[in-house]
Amino acid sequence: DESYAFVVVSNRLPVDRVVDDDGTERWNQGPGGLVTALEPIMREADGAWVGWAGAPDLEHEPFDRDGIRIVPLTLSQDDIERYYEGFSNDTLWPLYHDVIAPPSYHRIWWDSYVSVNQRFANAVAGITAHGGTVWVQDYQLQLVPRMLRQLRPDLTIGFFNHIPFPAYGIFSQLPWRTQIVEGLMGADVIGFQRVADAGNFSRAVRRLLGYTTKSPYIDIPARGEHPSRRVVAKAFPISIDAQAFEQLARRPEVQARAAQIRQDLGNPTTIMLGVDRLDYTKGIGHRLKAYHELLGDGRLVAEDVMLVQVASPSRERVETYRQLRDEIELTVGRINGDFGVLGHEPVSYLHHGFPREEMAALYLAADVMLVTALRDGMNLVAKEYVAARFDDDGVLVLSEFTGASDELRQAVLINPHDIDGMKDAIVRAIEMPRPERRRRMRALRKRVRENDVAHWSREFLRTLARHSDGPSEGL
Ligand code: G6P
Repeated sequence: DESYAFVVVSNRLPVDRVVDDDGTERWNQGPGGLVTALEPIMREADGAWVGWAGAPDLEHEPFDRDGIRIVPLTLSQDDIERYYEGFSNDTLWPLYHDVIAPPSYHRIWWDSYVSVNQRFANAVAGITAHGGTVWVQDYQLQLVPRMLRQLRPDLTIGFFNHIPFPAYGIFSQLPWRTQIVEGLMGADVIGFQRVADAGNFSRAVRRLLGYTTKSPYIDIPARGEHPSRRVVAKAFPISIDAQAFEQLARRPEVQARAAQIRQDLGNPTTIMLGVDRLDYTKGIGHRLKAYHELLGDGRLVAEDVMLVQVASPSRERVETYRQLRDEIELTVGRINGDFGVLGHEPVSYLHHGFPREEMAALYLAADVMLVTALRDGMNLVAKEYVAARFDDDGVLVLSEFTGASDELRQAVLINPHDIDGMKDAIVRAIEMPRPERRRRMRALRKRVRENDVAHWSREFLRTLARHSDGPSEGL
């Protein structure tokens, strides 16, 4: 039987299955940066990655990819509608992002979330070596730590939450709040993006389970035959492979492409850029409103400025996302209708994803990067922009409601709900003198270089290894 000493489990596998026209199958590396960070560790540690293959009813044997065992799990159409689109992305996602959109609560979605989490836990329990380590990723799998501990008390279990963890007043709306917190407490170490997220979680544990906390520790008292157990809940801000990104941006063909992009856009004085999954948490509408008003006020002149908005398609079968797309596309049409002239439109809207090379070129071409999320666990786009700017130029406008703003203090920080404040910040970014741009970008780059994704995974796994000294069956 196969068994692996280090197993990562996430809803989505780090590879996407692509079927060519002639029917041949390929697995491309997905857009996430997690796999780059974990690849070396996994290769060394005899690692496996368990996750959903990404399409309905797709059954596939485990296979090796770059020294990592890939173990695809099958989700039916019902699982996708209830566990993925429903509970994960129409209940937890809006709830954890401060109810920017109203969460829907359906018991049948919850039932599916429980059963799919159990299937993930069973699959992991079946392939992890005795005394091995499992790292569970993100909000889709919050019940897996406890389920796994019940099945395999010999394992060391880590969990990382990639999205925010909300304040108790919001979290407590969830009808299954206690089960979720118990599910997470099955882990030895629970990682969050921000100190505030870890604090919100600890408070939820105190309120719902009555345990004592002394940051970063949460103590589970002995109960019946279960001895007491200590869990770590702590912030580990995630990052990107900054060096790889910088190298990409330094490539001559990427720099040439950046120059070409500027030219294709008609060499405007200022190019602004937004890059987001098309998600209501990203504040794209607020950003467009500020831009529209700046053009209307005459503080920006349409001929001189251009906003490139990359909005990659996401969760398109969820109604809130459909509505958002309609709203954004309506707004873009209005701005271009109001302020476009023949041959020049002030917003270039692109509803598709791009390869990394093209993204690096876009970052290099952009004078101002707009990250205006209303709530975001981290926001890696902000870090990518910084990593790409090896020329120490460009200005990052960054929402305070992103995890990235805890670290990227030299960005122009904004509150995206304050439209006037955001307008002033945009003008300030556009007019910022070169010495100030250089000073800020240098400091930002240093930060992103030093705290890259390898640092993140090292810190998390080190904490996990230090903390878990032997089996613990306490639930
Ligand atoms: C966020 C989540 C990830 C998720 C990604 C893309 O970054 O934290 O868990 O994979 O969005 O969303 P999707 O639903 O397409 O996997």
